[in-house]
Amino acid sequence: MSNLSGWCFRLAVLYALFGMVMGEAMAMSGDHGQMPVHAHINVLGWVSLALFGVFYKLWPAAAVGRLPLAQFVLFNIGIIVQAVSVSIILSGNEAAGPFAGIGSAFLIISMALFAYLVYRHATE
Ligand code: HEM
Repeated sequence: MSNLSGWCFRLAVLYALFGMVMGEAMAMSGDHGQMPVHAHINVLGWVSLALFGVFYKLWPAAAVGRLPLAQFVLFNIGIIVQAVSVSIILSGNEAAGPFAGIGSAFLIISMALFAYLVYRHATE
């Protein structure tokens, strides 16, 4: 994907807007039951994705090829699968537990790929 850094920021701002609106809804309703979902969307979707975007801009060689693309795609699938699953669990349906685990595994694999890219390129 060309301009991977730009794509990180394009999606990060969408997660930020969604997460903030969700936070505002929690504050206004007084129902903080979905607070972990709000926190993860903001910290993973906004903060982490924006940091990936900064890294891929600072070390453009790291953004070339299928590995960084896989890192980006796995992370986004992980955020969405984890957020939806945890939201269902918090609504009282424990059956979504395995899906939350799968989403979390995607996030960890993606972060492991990112760690590899950092150690491979951040010395350049
Ligand atoms: C319009 C913006 C935002 C609003 C209205 C908002 C609102 C809230 C509310 C009502 C809670 C629940 C607090 C509680 O129950 O103790 C919360 C928790 C949290 N928010 Fe936000 N939030 C916003 C933006 C953000 C952003 C940008 C981030 C991260 C980058 C963030 C990260 C968190 C975290 C980590 C928690 C959990 C805190 C804890 O464990 O006590 N929020 N937020």
